[in-house]
Amino acid sequence: GKSGYDHYMLKEINEQPHALRECLRGRPRELEASIAIDELEGLKQPERVHFVSCGTSYHASRYGAKLFREQGIQTTTFLASEYDVDSIPIDEETLVVGVTQSGETADTLRALRAANSVGAETLAVTNVVGCSAARETDYVMYIRAGPEIGVAATKTFASQQVALAMLSRDLSGRCSSAFIEALRALPDQVQSILDTSHAAAVADEYVDADAYFFIGRGFDAPVALEGALKMKEITYKHAEGFPAGELKHGPLALVTERTPVFAMISGNSNIERMVGNVREVESRGAPVVAVTDVPGRIENHADHVLEIPETHGLFAPILANIQLQLVSYWVANRLGRSIDKPRNLAKSVTVE
Ligand code: F6R
Repeated sequence: GKSGYDHYMLKEINEQPHALRECLRGRPRELEASIAIDELEGLKQPERVHFVSCGTSYHASRYGAKLFREQGIQTTTFLASEYDVDSIPIDEETLVVGVTQSGETADTLRALRAANSVGAETLAVTNVVGCSAARETDYVMYIRAGPEIGVAATKTFASQQVALAMLSRDLSGRCSSAFIEALRALPDQVQSILDTSHAAAVADEYVDADAYFFIGRGFDAPVALEGALKMKEITYKHAEGFPAGELKHGPLALVTERTPVFAMISGNSNIERMVGNVREVESRGAPVVAVTDVPGRIENHADHVLEIPETHGLFAPILANIQLQLVSYWVANRLGRSIDKPRNLAKSVTVE
């Protein structure tokens, strides 16, 4: 059941501290300052990594790929539906990672099968034990988020982010105590956001907006994309996410006083340049909601601040996304939408 929540989505948003604890269980090794993912024993650091995934799982992959590259692992992300082994360099030294919550997404399964057929190594990062993706790949890593009923992916996204963060260190064989300490702090930090967020008040203020924009740089950029996807699927309203630098190359034409802009500004993103992007939208009259761990740096330019706890810079996007989930949920709630089963959408997409 919904355990007293109005929607599965809100229940699942609130389950994230538990989901992340499960995802982490037994994997970080404090003593050696390393990450060990038991089910991946024998998997070596590959020459290159291809991520194949769709929708929210693709956004998690974009975030994960940044963590892989930061470890010196050559990594490319593909939308599974666009993965074409005939036109992409791929061989036995390539590890193809299918990130799929359900493990049944047709596009992702097709991409993994194509990778198998050319002799690449394949790995499924999934939530469902015994799913098709797990059965058809050489390796499987479980994200352990528990069942997700709401069509909009929430806790599985956070768990994918944490799983891929651990995978990046497991593959590179290089980790630090600071990284592990920050990972371990995440569940409590997510809980503190859930306990104190005023996302519902922000949602109230902007429920009638024409459109919503989400911007972020670097590690924050994938979460800008995810924030927009979540907003559109459950509110049926226009939303777009961009790496912040792209704004002035076109989308800025859409920005008005009726289009709130959610700006992810974390200690890790290029703060000066983000402040510059925020000024661009501010001067067009757009309301600005900063999602940030450095509120002091942005206050004068934001109409609202949704604060996140300080973390290892690389993990700010995990925390920022929690605030964005809550904003989307509350906008959809005020609009009376069918939050757990948005029109036209299915939980697992088994056709190409
Ligand atoms: C959005 C959402 C979808 C899925 C996508 C892939 O909230 O849930 O975009 O992320 O259909 O699904 P999986 O991860 O099951 O392959």
